[in-house]
Amino acid sequence: MLGERPRAAAWLRSSLIVAGLPAATLLLLMATGAVGTGAGFVALLVTLASAATVARLWLGNLGELASQIRAAASGGAVPSLSVAPLLASVQEVADGVTRLARSYEERGALVERLRRADAAIIEALPDPLLVLSAERVPLRANRAAREMLGRPQAAAAPADAAALLRHPALAEALDGAFTSGEPAAANLVLPVPVMREVAAQVIPMDPPLADGGRMLVLLSDRTQERALERMRADFVANASHELRTPLASLIGFIETLRGPAADDPAAQQRFLQIMAEQSDRMRRLIDDLLGLSRIELTEHQAPSGRVDVETLARAETDAMAPILATRKAQLELEAAPAIAEPADADQLGQVIRNLLENAIRHGRENGHVRLTVAPGTAPDGRPGVAVSVADDGPGVAREHIPRLTERFYRVDKGRSRRAGGTGLGLAIVKHIVNRHRGTLTIESEEGVGTTFRVWLPGG
Ligand SMILES: Nc1ncnc2c1ncn2[C@@H]1O[C@H](COP(=O)(O)OP(=O)(O)OP(=O)(O)O)[C@@H](O)[C@H]1O
Ligand SMILES: [Mg+2]
Repeated sequence: MLGERPRAAAWLRSSLIVAGLPAATLLLLMATGAVGTGAGFVALLVTLASAATVARLWLGNLGELASQIRAAASGGAVPSLSVAPLLASVQEVADGVTRLARSYEERGALVERLRRADAAIIEALPDPLLVLSAERVPLRANRAAREMLGRPQAAAAPADAAALLRHPALAEALDGAFTSGEPAAANLVLPVPVMREVAAQVIPMDPPLADGGRMLVLLSDRTQERALERMRADFVANASHELRTPLASLIGFIETLRGPAADDPAAQQRFLQIMAEQSDRMRRLIDDLLGLSRIELTEHQAPSGRVDVETLARAETDAMAPILATRKAQLELEAAPAIAEPADADQLGQVIRNLLENAIRHGRENGHVRLTVAPGTAPDGRPGVAVSVADDGPGVAREHIPRLTERFYRVDKGRSRRAGGTGLGLAIVKHIVNRHRGTLTIESEEGVGTTFRVWLPGG
């Protein structure tokens, strides 16, 4: 803005420019006597006064235009002209400034909306994302990233990201991306707070983002995927191993029957008996594997029937007589009317059968097994059926309990195999319970016994 003195100087200069030529002409006419001194003097005064007025109005208009432009540039409201402008074009310029300011404001609002949309998308991404500056300082971290770094509530990029960024594999990928300007990838193993396997993608931003972000680091947690891959590989290895053992024994006995035992009827009978047992074991293993894969295939579809669990438990208890006799064990049933729904009767029969067989086979010789069935509510209050199978056998050490439902997991492999077990029984139980949207819990105390509890939705 102009000060008082410069403003007066500008006024004087403008007045002189406007009045300079007419005043000089008048003075010349007065000097040559063409115009009388009195009249000439009055005309000179009038010329100077009107020039000063025009210059003042003109400067005032320009001053107002200048303050309009200043207001528009600073994003404020544009004031309208306080006096009628000297020229129509001044009003046109003033209108132009107002229109310009309005579109400037609209564009600003649009940019702000786009910025917020960007931030919301990044925040809602399911995968963790970090935005880094050229100095590799984290500028932003979305919710998933904050959760991964153990700071879900922090609003800004957490300082914990620094530890992640120092990971040698990630640091190398960042170096590569910064020098080449091309995206880079790295696989990381993060030991804290829980062991995780993470795939990182580093994407350079050229030109940089509005907040100065030069690099995006996109992380995806591959822990579960890798665990599944390992489980699948383990499963194939275990299944082939389980099948190979009885197969090797069958091949061995066939050789023996053809050779050394060809003329020994007593040995032949003995070997054929073992071969029958081994074939039976292979058949059971294949049946269980097929059963397990069938259950897994339908695990995401809820069953549709209604099952009277009390009646089912009585039938399964009666069917245990032969195996109870071999272990000289006792089975006690305590059942109240209870309905599981939606449920599959065949599958629930399999759950009770597997748990009873385990309690009898892995329990104590001369032991005591107790099966109870009663209406029961889940911890979240849903009504249903509670089934429990308790034995007074040797129990299972604490560290084995979480792994009992894994396929082929047996605490004592040799013993379970000798008892004819395939190690798939509890895996089948777990999948059936999952399909029924129920729960399975295992409690065990070494030397005291084991209790399996199953809860199923129903009424
Ligand atoms: N009631 C129990 N008491 C002690 N250990 C048990 C009990 N039930 C299961 N286990 C342990 O859990 C392991 C896994 O049980 P699971 O039923 O899956 O296999 P299995 O009984 O060995 O073979 P099968 O596939 O024929 O049932 C068993 O080998 C045993 O070590
Ligand atoms: Mg079993």
